[in-house]
Amino acid sequence: MKAITLQHPGGLDHLHLTDLADPGQPGPGEIRVAIHATSLNFHDLLVAKGAIPTADGRVLMADGAGVVEAVGAGVTEFKPGDHVVSGFFPQWPAGPAFQQVGDFAGTPGDGIDGFAAEYVVRPATAFTLAPRGWSHAEAATITTAGLTAWRALVGDAALKAGDTVLTLGTGGVSIIALQIAKAMGAQVIITSSSDEKLARARDLGADHGINYRQRPDWGSAVRELTAGRGVDHVIELGGPGTLAQSIEAVRVGGHISLIGVLTGRQGDVPTSLLMARQARLQGLIVGSRRQQQDYVAALEQTGIRPVIDRSFALHELAEAFRFQESGGHFGKVVVEW
Ligand SMILES: NC(=O)c1ccc[n+]([C@@H]2O[C@H](COP(=O)([O-])OP(=O)(O)OC[C@H]3O[C@@H](n4cnc5c(N)ncnc54)[C@H](OP(=O)(O)O)[C@@H]3O)[C@@H](O)[C@H]2O)c1
Repeated sequence: MKAITLQHPGGLDHLHLTDLADPGQPGPGEIRVAIHATSLNFHDLLVAKGAIPTADGRVLMADGAGVVEAVGAGVTEFKPGDHVVSGFFPQWPAGPAFQQVGDFAGTPGDGIDGFAAEYVVRPATAFTLAPRGWSHAEAATITTAGLTAWRALVGDAALKAGDTVLTLGTGGVSIIALQIAKAMGAQVIITSSSDEKLARARDLGADHGINYRQRPDWGSAVRELTAGRGVDHVIELGGPGTLAQSIEAVRVGGHISLIGVLTGRQGDVPTSLLMARQARLQGLIVGSRRQQQDYVAALEQTGIRPVIDRSFALHELAEAFRFQESGGHFGKVVVEW
């Protein structure tokens, strides 16, 4: 079967379309899935570039969606023909985060082989059902970007109708956060480097857009838009280069979901302003299988469909990463086969 593997030392010139042995039939508790799509995340890009070291020959990609071909003994949750989507932390069924899920040792496409492959055999618990009627490409957006936005807003921040949400940029996590927040009855402010992308975000329901290149003090711009109050929740995707402005933008007693590393991995934090805001700053990494099942149910009820900017073929994965790296996309970039 065909798969895309990463050869040491990593880098987009070291992705190879390889013939690997077919994984065979599922054992007890396992399912065999014909994978048909994956979606690209910043984490996958870091692995592919070698910035996150992984095993030589690793099959890339955390997100995978496809069709169940066979189920092993004892599997009752799935049957052949079911459309399924993979989970980011196969070892985290439910409940609060615990130590082992703070690293990527069990994460597909990083600590274990991922889903840039035609077939996989995995424990049934490594998948959930996909939303009914979704394409595989749409379903593949759930694993990393979608679930992270869902957990941040609905799980950790306890979003409610009437709240105001700030989300940064127009990449995969931010655009689905916009869609979830609007579906939940929130007001949404979004930032971007591009006025054209801000216009597209408004078409999706964003109430306000701020060009962060034109307004480097975008935290103050958010306060102006909220009559000086600040927002209830921030989807913080930039990290050290944006956190100070996110703290400026949050209301007293508000919540910041610290999700992203787009501007780097460490830096200065205005701790006294964070204290004065009496805001909660919560780091998070994706979510549990239970949260993914809740998210799938919410997607079916709300009718949200993910925004897919561009689709590539499996052998074009490196090209897809280069497109993602260029920052030209709006929403998700996917690969289908
Ligand atoms: N903790 C977790 O569980 C988790 C899960 C998923 C993703 N993440 C992280 O979240 C971040 C976003 O991931 P993604 O997959 O959505 O990435 P992505 O699709 O590649 O999004 C990139 C977009 O971010 C925006 N951006 C870049 N620099 C920015 C800045 N300084 N200020 C504001 N926006 C900026 C740009 O939007 P414009 O073009 O509109 O300017 C860019 O197009 C990454 O750091 C990723 O590692 C974390």
